[in-house]
Amino acid sequence: MEKLKELLGGVAAFLVVLVIVWAIWSGPAEEEVVGVECSSNPAQSEIILPEPDYSGIGVEKAIGKRRSVREYSVENITLEELSMLLWAGQGTTSEWGGRAAPSAGALYPIELYVVPNRVEGVYCGIYKYLPGEHKLVLVQEGDFREKVAGAALGQECVWNAAAVIVMTSVQERTAVKYGERSELYIAMEAGHISENILLEAVSLGLGAVPVGGFSTEEIDGILGVEEGESSLYIAVVGKV
Ligand SMILES: Cc1cc2nc3c(=O)[nH]c(=O)nc-3n(C[C@H](O)[C@H](O)[C@H](O)COP(=O)(O)O)c2cc1C
Repeated sequence: MEKLKELLGGVAAFLVVLVIVWAIWSGPAEEEVVGVECSSNPAQSEIILPEPDYSGIGVEKAIGKRRSVREYSVENITLEELSMLLWAGQGTTSEWGGRAAPSAGALYPIELYVVPNRVEGVYCGIYKYLPGEHKLVLVQEGDFREKVAGAALGQECVWNAAAVIVMTSVQERTAVKYGERSELYIAMEAGHISENILLEAVSLGLGAVPVGGFSTEEIDGILGVEEGESSLYIAVVGKV
């Protein structure tokens, strides 16, 4: 009996040592590494985005090459790349404030929010894009990667994305002029904006996919939108 106890004690000690060695040797899991980049940077209340660079690949090539890409590398995207994606979606392209994507009555009901999981030099949080000043303002500090992926039905492409761009709409802006048709117009506008972002991603050599599969209530809650504003569509982007 004593011999058996000794033997079992020896086996248990060996297993403990084995687990410790394995834990030290294996280091953090890949999943833990992906997406932590933003945590190591200081918080910014606003980020002035780099000026857009118009030397892309051309619209025909971008249309011809566009495909939904759902797998990304662990690399960061750059602030220049994020700047281009936001400019393509909602950037100001005229002196009177006209934007990159068409809008019924030029009423611009759609807002863009960014959850930057891995954007060079950008701290974790939720940022709102201000087209007129081409800058981002911090809405909430913190790492929202897991929450956002969860609200998007746990889709891996959202979890692995370097940046998640959420389109919300303030329906009243369009409804004051177009009444009941505003809902339809806003959905059309989200399509325009999304396609611009997707084609810009192709031009930049990034992978992207539009995501409609998410809980509106959950995303609204995460963004902390006010009454009358609601999430509509998501574009996720990453390096391939
Ligand atoms: C309104 C809409 C919602 C979509 N939602 C998702 C989604 O939640 N997740 C996803 O992986 N792809 C989503 N997609 C991408 C489609 O699956 C994709 O466009 C389709 O398979 C055709 O492939 P392609 O984009 O490479 O041409 C969505 C596309 C649209 C237009």
